[in-house]
Amino acid sequence: MEFFDSHAHYNDEKFEIDRDEVISSVKAEEITRLVSVGYSVEASKFAEKLSNKYEFIYYSCGISPNDLPQTEDELWKKLEEIKKIANQKHKKLVAIGEIGLDYYWNKENMNLQKLAFIEQIKLANELELPIIIHSREAVVDTIDILKNKQESINKGIFHCCPLNRELVKEALKLGYYISFAGPITFKNSKNADEIIKMVPLDRILIETDSPYLSPEPNRGKRNDSRNVKYIAQKISQVKEMTLEEIAKITYENANKVFKIEN
Ligand code: NI
Repeated sequence: MEFFDSHAHYNDEKFEIDRDEVISSVKAEEITRLVSVGYSVEASKFAEKLSNKYEFIYYSCGISPNDLPQTEDELWKKLEEIKKIANQKHKKLVAIGEIGLDYYWNKENMNLQKLAFIEQIKLANELELPIIIHSREAVVDTIDILKNKQESINKGIFHCCPLNRELVKEALKLGYYISFAGPITFKNSKNADEIIKMVPLDRILIETDSPYLSPEPNRGKRNDSRNVKYIAQKISQVKEMTLEEIAKITYENANKVFKIEN
């Protein structure tokens, strides 16, 4: 059995002391592909470096809504840097992200968030890449941008799927993949089963969002890609399928959206 963790952050300082060790253990435990996702210029550069060092690590670059500078001028500068990273057309660059809107953590710069989101979708389109979307408490504006303001030609992924029926419905209609993370295993996430049932098998991905959001039974501890099995397990229970089947389907889906050949 093999697993594909579609979203992790191995640049994070929480891995500072034992990064190489953790990454080796991940590979040893059947997680044979993963994407180290950027969220700032620095994180994106680091992710690229990891992809050079490890054959099974791919990467994405982008600026997340929670890592934006204060002003529009500064944002343009950062976007230039992201473009420089992206324009090298590294063969392991598989997406632009994570990008999007987050009105939970940041409500005072909504216009800057929208600008950053739209500009990075344009970049993804130029490079023929999918996008990795971070959307929190911003369903209406996220969908409005994707539907009416700046379409993403290669579509992409709603990462760490917010368990919001409306968002999932619209995302599926628009052709996006839904990536499930730790919260679906939490005992207090009431509608996880319902949302998992809503997503057809050919649109499901699994991720850890390491080092955050460890699933049960490791909730509260530092997360790493080995825990992606618990996400697959939860989905297999709800879909009444085997773990092997879910592992295989999500692996194939990830290869497809990231355009990775087998
Ligand atoms: Ni993330």
